[in-house]
Amino acid sequence: MLMLDKLKFKTLEWTGDSLRILDQTRLPNEVTYLDCTKLEDVVSAIRNLKVRGAPAIGISAAFGVVIGINEQEFSSRHEFEQRLDHVISALANTRPTAVNLFWALERMKEVSGRSKEKDPEQVVQLLLQEAISIHEEDKWMCEKIGEFGADLLKDGDTVLTHCNAGALATGGIGTALGIIYTATWQGKRISVFADETRPVLQGARLTVWELQQQGVDVTLICDNMAAFVMKKKKIDCIIVGADRIATNGDVANKIGTYNVAILANFHKIPFYVAAPSSSFDPAISKGDDIIIEERGCEEVTDCFGSKIAPSGVKIYSPAFDITPAELVTAYITEKGVQSSKFNV
Ligand code: MRU
Repeated sequence: MLMLDKLKFKTLEWTGDSLRILDQTRLPNEVTYLDCTKLEDVVSAIRNLKVRGAPAIGISAAFGVVIGINEQEFSSRHEFEQRLDHVISALANTRPTAVNLFWALERMKEVSGRSKEKDPEQVVQLLLQEAISIHEEDKWMCEKIGEFGADLLKDGDTVLTHCNAGALATGGIGTALGIIYTATWQGKRISVFADETRPVLQGARLTVWELQQQGVDVTLICDNMAAFVMKKKKIDCIIVGADRIATNGDVANKIGTYNVAILANFHKIPFYVAAPSSSFDPAISKGDDIIIEERGCEEVTDCFGSKIAPSGVKIYSPAFDITPAELVTAYITEKGVQSSKFNV
């Protein structure tokens, strides 16, 4: 049995003809599922953060390819390929930072490239198989990350995390939170401090919600409380996820992760990055080369429909930042725990 089956909700699910996603913009107030039956539904769900988190974006995009292809009938292989290019580029243009999106779309493209002699109906079946494999592999990678990471945690430990790298962000039990769940299921008592994670509060809305569902002891803090919490409370380690990891070990993750890494370094607290191999980008050699998504001004000027800043103010809203490799203690992947080369 997969550990995933212990969770009380499903982030995403292929129903046979649609992608059902838990609408994360409605959490924690409402648990609402959305059936994506058209390419535009998947594109909009990813762009508007209804489904978010690097691995979950990749999986959704893979199913998005199948949905986009199924919307049309083809009289030739050429027509099929034109549509496939359109569908892939629409999905690729949703969010630029998480490499898992491009990694999954590349896998889908390769399936079609390998079956040039097949007719469109046969290729659609192969594309669906590939999307299902991408989802299944992610479930498995999360479980392995959970196992390897849980070995780093002792009974009674307290972990600080930023954003949401949980089951809501993946096809499985999560990366950072998957480690916490696994340790908890092993009988260790683990407590969590969750940064709220402005601007759109993935920590407060999502991480707290899913940890509470699982009965994990969680305390919510505002982002600017992290330094004081590290000084005053016994924080044994920080665990975060990643949207893209460069070959030199620099990590793109939710805006504010870099702050947390600097604070951890100052307080001599281990800083772990938990991520599947689909988050490592062999084509990017350093963090500065990673494209950082900038999001709409209203995410900063507004909070839950209310203005919190005077209109007309200038806004800068990067959604991610880069944590340099020298601030990372180790990477926890499905292959094991790899110390940062700066820590060996
Ligand atoms: O903008 P989001 O909510 O998609 O950002 C998510 C994160 O930064 C996560 O930490 C990251 O994708 C890893 S999820 C396992």
